[in-house]
Amino acid sequence: MGDRGGAGGSRRRRTGSRPSSQSGGGPAAAEEEVRAAAPGATGRPPTRTRAAAPTRAPLPQCHRLQDSLFSSDSGFNNYRGILNWCVVMLILSNARLFLENLIKYGILVDPIQVVSLFLKDPYSWPALCLVIVANVFAVAAFQVEKRLAVGALTEQAGLLLHVLNLATILCFPAAVALLLESITPVGSVLALMVYTILFLKLFSYRDVNLWCRERRARAKAKAGKKANGGTAQRMVSYPDNLTYRDLYYFLFAPTLCYELNFPRSPRIRKRFLLRRLLEMLFLTQLQVGLIQQWMVPTIQNSMKPFKDMDYSRIIERLLKLAVPNHLIWLIFFYWFFHSCMNAVAELMQFGDREFYRDWWNSESVTYFWQNWNIPVHKWCLRHFYKPMLRRGSSKWVARTGVFFASAFFHEYLVSIPLHMFRLWAFTGMMAQIPLAWIVSRFFQGNYGNAAVWLTLIIGQPVAVLMYVHDYYVLHYEAPVVGA
Ligand SMILES: CC(C)(COP(=O)(O)OP(=O)(O)OC[C@H]1O[C@@H](n2cnc3c(N)ncnc32)[C@H](O)[C@@H]1OP(=O)(O)O)[C@@H](O)C(=O)NCCC(=O)NCCS
Repeated sequence: MGDRGGAGGSRRRRTGSRPSSQSGGGPAAAEEEVRAAAPGATGRPPTRTRAAAPTRAPLPQCHRLQDSLFSSDSGFNNYRGILNWCVVMLILSNARLFLENLIKYGILVDPIQVVSLFLKDPYSWPALCLVIVANVFAVAAFQVEKRLAVGALTEQAGLLLHVLNLATILCFPAAVALLLESITPVGSVLALMVYTILFLKLFSYRDVNLWCRERRARAKAKAGKKANGGTAQRMVSYPDNLTYRDLYYFLFAPTLCYELNFPRSPRIRKRFLLRRLLEMLFLTQLQVGLIQQWMVPTIQNSMKPFKDMDYSRIIERLLKLAVPNHLIWLIFFYWFFHSCMNAVAELMQFGDREFYRDWWNSESVTYFWQNWNIPVHKWCLRHFYKPMLRRGSSKWVARTGVFFASAFFHEYLVSIPLHMFRLWAFTGMMAQIPLAWIVSRFFQGNYGNAAVWLTLIIGQPVAVLMYVHDYYVLHYEAPVVGA
C-alpha cells in the first residue's frame, strides 16, 4: 500500500481507507482538510499555518489489501450471473441441436404411438386390471392386522401371512407380465411400479402396527391399565387406526412410511394445485416429445456402431445420448418429485412435502443417495438400515444390504417388462458402493460435486444403451441368425 501522504504521512493518524475517493481532490478530502485546520477540531488552537495543513491531513487511499474475486481466499461466492450465462449458453446450444434434429428427421412426435406403448389391443387393458387387483393384497394385509390387534392371530402366524402376502405382491404381477402376451413393456413397468410401491407401503404398515402392539404390551405391563396412553387432541392411537379409510389414505399419500397421525396441511390451496397440475400436463408432453424426437433416433443410430464393435463411434454415440437423456432425467425429477407429489399431497392435505433435498449440491455419492429420493431413503432408513444396525450389523453390511435390495427392485422393474435378464440395472446400483468410496477418497468439494454430476450424466446412458442394444439383438437380430 503506497503511502501517498508525502513527508507528513508517517506521522498522520490513519482514518481508514476510502478506495473510491482520489487523493488531492474531491469534496470529502477538502472537508477533511478544513476540519483538520478548524480551531475546535482537536480541542486546541491550531499551531501551524493553514498552508501546512493539507500536507499533514490523511489522504484517502484507493488501494487496500484484497484478493481477486476468483481466488478462493476472497470468500466471494456470488456466481448468479455466471449461472445465468450457463443457462443462456445451454438454451442456445440446445436450440441448435433442436434445429439440426428437425432438419435431419422432421417431426417425429406422434401421440398415437404413445397410446400403443400402453396398449396392444384397445379392448384389453391388462396393466390396469393388474393395478385394480392390487387392492386384494392391501385388504389381505389389513385383515391380518385387524386380527393381530384383537389377538385372534399369534404374532408368528401374522408374520407368516404377511410374508406370504408380500411375496405374492412381487411374484404375481411378475408372472402376469412374463406370461401375458397382451401386456406391453411400458404397461408392465407401470403395473410393477404400483406393486413395488404397495410392497414397500404394506411392509411399513406391518412394521408400524407391530411397534404399536409392542408399545401397548409394554404399557400394559407397566401400568396394568390405560394401555394406549392419553387419547387427547384428536390423535389416533392404536388400534383405532385400523380402518379402511386410514389404510387407503396411506396407500394414496405420497410417502412410503406409515404413521398413525400424518402431519396435515390446513386447507387445499387451489392456485398451488392448479400450477402443479399444469406443470404435470406440460412436462409430460415435453418428456414424451423429447424422447420421441431426440432420444429414439439417437439410440437407433447407436445400434450399428455397437454391432460393428466400433469403440470410438460407440463413445461418440454415448456422449450424444447423454445430453437428451440427462435433460429428460432432470425434467422427470421436477415433474415427479415436485409437480406430481405436491399435487397429490395438496389434494390429500398431506403436510410433509420434503420429497427431495438439495442433491444437486452433492459432493459425495453418499450425499446424493441421502437427498435425491426422500420417500425411498426414509423407508430404507426406517425399515431396513436402522433395524439392521439395531440387530448388531455393521454400517457397511447394513448399507450393502440396502443397496442390494434397491438393486434388486431396479432390476425387477426393468428385466421383467423387457423379458430380458441382463443385470445391468442391478450392477449399476451395486456399483454405487465402490463409487461412493472412490469419489469420497479422491474428490472433495467442487471436484466431488463434478464427479457426482459426471456419474449421473454418463452412467445412465450407459445403462440405457446396454438394455436397448440387448433388446435390439434379442428381438430384431435373433431371427436373422436363426434363419
Ligand atoms: C443406505 C442408506 C440408507 C444409508 O443412509 P445414510 O444416511 O448414509 O446412513 P448413516 O450411516 O449416515 O445413518 C443414518 C441414520 O442412522 C442413524 N444411525 C447410525 N448408526 C446407528 C445405530 N447404530 N443405531 C441406530 N441408528 C443409527 C443415524 O443417527 C442417522 O439417523 P438420522 O437419519 O435420524 O439422522 C442410504 O444411502 C440410502 O438410502 N441408500 C439407498 C438409496 C436408494 O436406493 N434409493 C433409490 C432411489 S431410486
